Amino acid sequence: MYAWSNPWFRRSVLGLVALAAFTLLVGFVWLPSVHADFSAKGIWDSICRAAGMPSQWSGAVTPPKASAGTTNVVLTRDMTRPGAGDSVGRGATIAVQQCSMCHGAQGMSEANAPNLAGQYPEVVIKQLHDYKHGARSSAFMQTIAQKLTDKDIQDLASYYDSLPKARAATVRGDEPGAPALVRVGDPLRNIVPCVSCHGGIDHKIGTPWLEGMPKEYLLSQLKGFASGARRNDSFAQMRNVVRPMTADEINSVAEFYARREPVAGVR
Ligand code: HEC
Ligand code: HEC
Repeated sequence: MYAWSNPWFRRSVLGLVALAAFTLLVGFVWLPSVHADFSAKGIWDSICRAAGMPSQWSGAVTPPKASAGTTNVVLTRDMTRPGAGDSVGRGATIAVQQCSMCHGAQGMSEANAPNLAGQYPEVVIKQLHDYKHGARSSAFMQTIAQKLTDKDIQDLASYYDSLPKARAATVRGDEPGAPALVRVGDPLRNIVPCVSCHGGIDHKIGTPWLEGMPKEYLLSQLKGFASGARRNDSFAQMRNVVRPMTADEINSVAEFYARREPVAGVR
């Protein structure tokens, strides 16, 4: 071929090829590799990433890891029903041996641990799995949950569900004296009212019963969601609610839901 034997032509073609190879390397290998989330296995993945394809298509599906501090529990309707057979009795036996010293003989904590009496079963199940797998941290609870089997967790949830709730009535959407954030939220700051998930207007699956909890406990959890120290709430539901709130607002909603101290002269 005449053109190929011409050294100028040869040089410019080889130059173009080299330039193209260099650009591909920079664009698909070097640039993506300096991103913190670089996970591509080979150039094909890089090309798919660069073209904006979801990583599932390129075959790189990794199972979610709970150790990242977020939950991997998927809530199902089954979890909202107590276990069959002697589930409650077996749960009571484990509770007396391992839980009542902190959560109270009848699931009503004398200290600042959360009440478990009447807590929704799917909440107890989810939280115990989250402690067990490190998605929610607490030195005590992680150690204790590690030793519980799935059946133990189910039975404990059935037992606590069978006990009367701390305060018989849910906070209602229109309860007099309820802070505005509890009743109507704040649409301008995207704060959804507490009663639309925690009961009052609606109870969403996996949302804990708060009424009558120790104030210190409620405060510590709200602060944990605000700082991100607690981040096992699915879809960041609580973190989104709490982040725009001021310290005073957090304090007043905690006080409202908490076990209320008797006020002198009022019966
Ligand atoms: C040494 C005291 C202690 C013991 C014993 C203990 N807990 Fe706890 N538990 C706590 C504390 C404190 C918390 C709150 C920790 C936090 O801040 O996350 C907690 C949290 C929980 C929660 C989360 C509740 C919620 O509303 O989110 C569940 C569920 C729970 N414990 C169940 C149990 C069960 C079941 C047992 C027995 C197998 C048990 N705990 C034994 C102290 C204890
Ligand atoms: C969009 C629904 C939603 C709204 C609105 C919401 N919450 Fe929650 N909240 C949740 C869910 C879900 C959880 C359980 C998170 C988990 O799985 O760990 C939770 C957990 C909590 C906890 C921790 C309780 C425990 O025992 O672990 C507190 C305290 C709390 N919410 C208070 C509030 C307050 C106060 C408001 C209103 C200012 C509010 N929440 C509004 C969904 C909501």
